[in-house]
Amino acid sequence: MSKPVVLITGANGEIGRSLLERLHADGRYEAVTVDLTPLPERYRALCRETYAGNIMDRYLLDQVAAHHEIEVVFHLAALLSTRGERDPELAHQVNVEGTLHLLRVANNQSQRLGRAVRFVFPSSIAIYGLPDVPAKTKAGRVGEEEWNVPITMYGCNKLYCEHLGRYFTRHFRQMGALATASRLDFRAIRFPGLISAETVPTGGTSDFGPEMLHAAAQGKPYKCFVGPEAKIPFMAMPDAVESMLLLLEADRERLTDTVYNVGAFSVSAGDIAARVKQLFPAADITYEPDPVRARIVDSWPEDVDDTRARKDWDWKPAYDFDRAMDEYLMPGIRRRYAPDSP
Ligand code: SER
Repeated sequence: MSKPVVLITGANGEIGRSLLERLHADGRYEAVTVDLTPLPERYRALCRETYAGNIMDRYLLDQVAAHHEIEVVFHLAALLSTRGERDPELAHQVNVEGTLHLLRVANNQSQRLGRAVRFVFPSSIAIYGLPDVPAKTKAGRVGEEEWNVPITMYGCNKLYCEHLGRYFTRHFRQMGALATASRLDFRAIRFPGLISAETVPTGGTSDFGPEMLHAAAQGKPYKCFVGPEAKIPFMAMPDAVESMLLLLEADRERLTDTVYNVGAFSVSAGDIAARVKQLFPAADITYEPDPVRARIVDSWPEDVDDTRARKDWDWKPAYDFDRAMDEYLMPGIRRRYAPDSP
C-alpha cells in the first residue's frame, strides 16, 4: 500500500528542510513539496515529488492536488516579519491570499476523500502585541487569548489566518448544500523564535538569536539589531518539528482549540551572547539596535503559556537553553562550518 502523502509548502525554508529530514527518517508519509526555489538534491531525494513554483499560482496548486491524494498539508511558506514590514502588500498577498489558496485546496481534497485533510499551520509569537517593555515584563507568560493586537503585517496576517483556518474547519459553507460535507482539520502552532543548526532564517525579527550563533561559528563579527536586554521565547528546531508532528497526530477529540502556544526557553540577546562567548571566546558581538526591529521584539511576549498544548496533546520540549546549546546547536553548527563540511 502506498504511504499517505503530505504536501509541504515552503519546503526549502528553515522549518521545511528539518521537517523533510524528520519525515523521511520516520517513514510514515511521503512528501510532495512546493517552493519558489528548487530544493537542493540532498532534500529532493527525500521527496516523492517536488514542484518549483509560487503558492499564488492556483493552476499549479490544482495540478499538485490532481496528481496526489493529499492527506496532510504543512503550509510553511510565508514572508517573515521584517521582510513583511519592507513590503506589507506583498506580505499580505503571500501570507493571507496564499494561505487561502492552500485552505481551498485542502478543503476540496477533504470533500473528495470524504475525510478531513489535516492542515498544520505555523503561527507565531508575532500575533501578540505588547504596548511597551513595562507591560511586557508585567505580562510575563502570555496565554493564547491575551494581547492579540500585533504591530506587524506578518503578525496581523498570521492572526487572521488562524481565524480563517478555524472558520474553514468549523463553519465553511454553513448555509449551503455542502454544509455536511467533510471539512478540513486545521491545527495551528504559535512558534517562538526558532534556532536551527543548519540554516539561518531570512527576513525575520527573531533572527538575532540564530545570526549571532552562526556568525560566531564562522569567526565573523556580529552587530546585534536589538539591545542585550531584549527577551523573547526561543526554541531549538528539533522541538519545533516534533511539536508539529505531535499536533498532527493528536486525536481530534482531545483538541479543545485550533491554536496552540508552544514554549521551550526564554532568553535575552545578552544571555545568548554570553553563552556564545563562552563557547567561542573570540566572538565579536556588538549592539547596534535598529529602532523599528527592536520595537517589534519589545512588542512580543517574553514568554508564552503553553498549558493548553501540554494538556491537549502532551507537548513537552526536549531542549531547554543549556541542552539546546550544548547538545544540538554547538555540535551542529561546528559541523556545519567545519572546513571539510560538504
Ligand atoms: N521568527 C519570525 C520572525 O522573526 C516570527 O515568527 O518573523
